[in-house]
Amino acid sequence: MADLVPASFLTQANALSRKNLAYQRRNLWSNVRLIVIPLYLCVLLVSIQALFDAQVTNSPDNRCGCQCTDDQSGDGKCDKKSCGVAYSSQKQAMFCAFPNPPPLPPLLQIPRPKTPSASCTRLTGSCPVTVFVTGNNLSLGPALSRSLLTTSFMVNSSVSWLRNPAITVLGTTSEPDLTNYFDPGIHSNLPIFNIQPQCTPRTTFSFSTGQSPQKFKKVEVRCVQGLSLWRNNSIDVSHEILKGYHEDVINDVAAAYDLLDTDTNKFNVTIWYNSTSKTKLLERRVKLVRVPRSVNLISNAYLQYVNGPGTKILFEFIKEMPKVETLLRVDVASSIGPVFFTWVILLLFPVILNTLVYEKQQRLRIIMKMHGLGDGPYWMISYAYFLTISTLYIICLMMFGSLIGLKFFKLNDYSIQFIFYFIYINLQISIAFLVSSAFSKVKTSSVAAYIYVFGSGLLGVFLFQFLMEDSSFPRRWILVMEVYPGFSLYRGLYEFSEYALDKRDMGMKWEDFSDGGMDEVFYIMIVEWLVSLIAAYYLDKMSSSGKDPLFFLKNPFKFMPRHSLGSEVSVEMEKLDVAQEREKVEQLMLEPTTRYAIVCDNLKKMYQGRDGNQPKIAVHGLSLAVPSGECFGMLGPNGAGKTSFINMMTGLVKPTSGAAFVRGLDICKDMDRAYTSMGVCPQHDLLWETLTGREHLLFYGRLKNLKGSDLNQAVEESLKSVNLFRGGVGDKPAGKYSGGMKRRLSVAISLIGCPKVVYMDEPSTGLDPASRINLWTVIKRAKTNTAIILTTHSMEEAEFLCDRLGIFVDGRLQCIGNPKELKGRYGGSYVFTMTTSSDHEKDVEMLVKDVSPNAKKIYHIGGTQKFEIPKGEVRISEVFQAVEKAKSSFKVFAWGLADTTLEDVFIKVARTAQAFNVFS
Ligand SMILES: *[C@@H]1O[C@H](CO)[C@@H](O)[C@H](O)[C@H]1NC(C)=O
Ligand SMILES: *[C@@H]1O[C@H](CO)[C@@H](O)[C@H](O)[C@H]1NC(C)=O
Ligand SMILES: *[C@@H]1O[C@H](CO)[C@@H](O)[C@H](O)[C@H]1NC(C)=O
Ligand SMILES: *[C@@H]1O[C@H](CO)[C@@H](O)[C@H](O)[C@H]1NC(C)=O
Ligand SMILES: *[C@@H]1O[C@H](CO)[C@@H](O)[C@H](O)[C@H]1NC(C)=O
Repeated sequence: MADLVPASFLTQANALSRKNLAYQRRNLWSNVRLIVIPLYLCVLLVSIQALFDAQVTNSPDNRCGCQCTDDQSGDGKCDKKSCGVAYSSQKQAMFCAFPNPPPLPPLLQIPRPKTPSASCTRLTGSCPVTVFVTGNNLSLGPALSRSLLTTSFMVNSSVSWLRNPAITVLGTTSEPDLTNYFDPGIHSNLPIFNIQPQCTPRTTFSFSTGQSPQKFKKVEVRCVQGLSLWRNNSIDVSHEILKGYHEDVINDVAAAYDLLDTDTNKFNVTIWYNSTSKTKLLERRVKLVRVPRSVNLISNAYLQYVNGPGTKILFEFIKEMPKVETLLRVDVASSIGPVFFTWVILLLFPVILNTLVYEKQQRLRIIMKMHGLGDGPYWMISYAYFLTISTLYIICLMMFGSLIGLKFFKLNDYSIQFIFYFIYINLQISIAFLVSSAFSKVKTSSVAAYIYVFGSGLLGVFLFQFLMEDSSFPRRWILVMEVYPGFSLYRGLYEFSEYALDKRDMGMKWEDFSDGGMDEVFYIMIVEWLVSLIAAYYLDKMSSSGKDPLFFLKNPFKFMPRHSLGSEVSVEMEKLDVAQEREKVEQLMLEPTTRYAIVCDNLKKMYQGRDGNQPKIAVHGLSLAVPSGECFGMLGPNGAGKTSFINMMTGLVKPTSGAAFVRGLDICKDMDRAYTSMGVCPQHDLLWETLTGREHLLFYGRLKNLKGSDLNQAVEESLKSVNLFRGGVGDKPAGKYSGGMKRRLSVAISLIGCPKVVYMDEPSTGLDPASRINLWTVIKRAKTNTAIILTTHSMEEAEFLCDRLGIFVDGRLQCIGNPKELKGRYGGSYVFTMTTSSDHEKDVEMLVKDVSPNAKKIYHIGGTQKFEIPKGEVRISEVFQAVEKAKSSFKVFAWGLADTTLEDVFIKVARTAQAFNVFS
């Protein structure tokens, strides 16, 4: 058959995609299940929302209160119901309409007293609050600080505070709310403090909340002494403010000002205030702070300093904006959206990573490669597959989310959403490719991937979001954090949820694209995607070919033995035939010819010792040349290094030293090209459980550039030749095959497309005799144009198939030659067996001595004796004559004369070699 042209990129891609399609068709349901996961999750969200609405939204506590105002009929049925602030509890009131919110006094925030048992308590008025002032001008500052609180005057119990609001300095220890319709400082039962330079007896006054006369409330006002203190610099002030924090000191700082460079022409002041507000987790609303009075106080003091005591800025009241009645509406999906959807989308990551690592772990990737599948088509098709699955997943998520009515999906512009998700899944796939090179086991990769999934979501909500919302955290660090893919995804989802939660119900549009951080996220992800794709491709290329510059980072000691091997002194005595082969190889290295398909020159493999064990040398300098059309059989006891040798030749492991050429291509450098004309039947079947035998052959046939009718014919023949054709066996999934059938399929795969070099690692293990003979004929037929290296434990097979044999013991070739030669060389004798009654044993010995004086007794038990008779000494006819004579003189139960078998040769060679190795 003519040389086949190696399959082109597209042919390979086509072969792989057809195989994958067949594979995925079988896995259709698991794919569908994966894709509809978003549906389940959306339904889950809707159920949570429904539960939430039933329990929280529709509870009477969460709407404006109503009471029955007219029940004249007395039948218990309400005739007239009135709703509003007046009929509401304090909790309900915040949902009511406020067409005219009540004016409230501006209050200063005073920290809560820390230790009630300390020497002074504010409840008795003995404990002063302080106002700190600092600044650069030592004449202006202290003067100003003195006039800060002198403006206060005693509250006259019969005068409402409203008449003189600007000059009555009131304070509270209660924290402000989210809105100012009801100030907890006034409506709670905590006292209000009137801060004055000097205290007079306590007074009480009352005021109304403005709207309803029924709610006329008396509030207790207590006097508390206010000290205005000058400090030389702002560090001192900060220290004083924070002192109470660390030490258990009552530290009642009501206000603090830094006047900076204020003078009579310029008023420039920094105001300290406590911005800490305890909001609940996940609640993104900001509480009010009590600064207005603080600002007014210093402004008034400054004005009075500049313009004289008559000048005042009156601070009448503070008042909220009017509002309509509201309902509590919490959009659960949007509120927990960022973390929830981060998980949903990240869930694809383990799926992708595990698929990649699985193909590596099961060596499916490498076996495809050995049959000529290049990295390019593999990447392209795998990428396309993952992208398709991910895209479908995302589309389903968006579709189900919108159908179910989640604002998160409905409000935001679909094109922004889709592009965002699409970029992200691309990034995710390339990250999976990148990361997969670090894993070799599915177990570890899936653990790592799930940690990544859940870790990213949790870190996103508890760390990243927290920092993002903290306006003092530098923005560029947020950008740096977004380089982590989990956070960039989180950021995007966060922006979507912000827009979905927005009261205006507008959602994110392209106009808003650069308002939040969305544009940055896009750019970061795109750049990262390209970078990780290139890095992944590079790493993959490096780890599949030997020359990787990053490999030594991963395992810095890997290369050390290479140097130490060089100095190893080889004191082995080589047999003549092995030495001849070595000479032949050396000759070939000098003047290469194409006649030899496989040439190994002094190939060595050493495995690193683990846990303090000695390093194990699997192959000791093997030299071998196999011409095209020859089947070379490798015999050897278990653990002799045959499989290591095949693994090296097929690129599974790198040789420690030495060189090997497959059709002139160096296996360390040009393995990818060598693969295009190679067939491999590995020791363990590497098959896809769900693909049929025919599909396997079609796939590998396409990789070998077979097309159309040639392909079908080759597959058909191949199935027939390995006995997988009848009964439609070839169309059953390989997972259902018996061990022997799998074996036959593996052999058929290795031979399809007439490869020039075929390696078979124990091809006939587990086969019944009939199939074995069948298989042998197939291999024999394939041999004509191909170099085959075959390992086997069956001497029969070796004798039948191999043109030459090498016996391999402890990593060394002990002898090499064709089966006949070997038998002649190592056998060289007949085995004569005779069974008589035990009385005649002596007679038998005599008989043998007669025939051949140098015969050796090798076996003797209960009348049966075996002798080894050197071939040179006897003629067979003499033996027959002697036996005939003996038969007449005593009774011979049985006798036999056998030539040495290959088995005898094998045992002999293996024994002597091992004995030699033990004693050397
Ligand atoms: C309090 O106000 C009343 C009525 O306006 C007035 O008669 C009284 O003198 C005031 N008391 C003080 C101490 O200013
Ligand atoms: C502030 O500085 C002045 C002069 O530099 C000094 O006399 C005074 O003791 C300082 N006050 C404080 C509270 O450190
Ligand atoms: C401090 O303020 C006073 C009054 O405004 C002004 O006369 C004086 O020049 C200021 N001193 C400095 C050092 O700015
Ligand atoms: C106010 O003071 C700060 C700090 O000294 C200074 O950076 C700022 O420019 C000043 N502002 C004005 C308007 O002078
Ligand atoms: C600031 O306010 C928080 C919350 O009310 C409080 O726990 C904290 O002690 C206050 N800090 C200072 C320095 O007063």
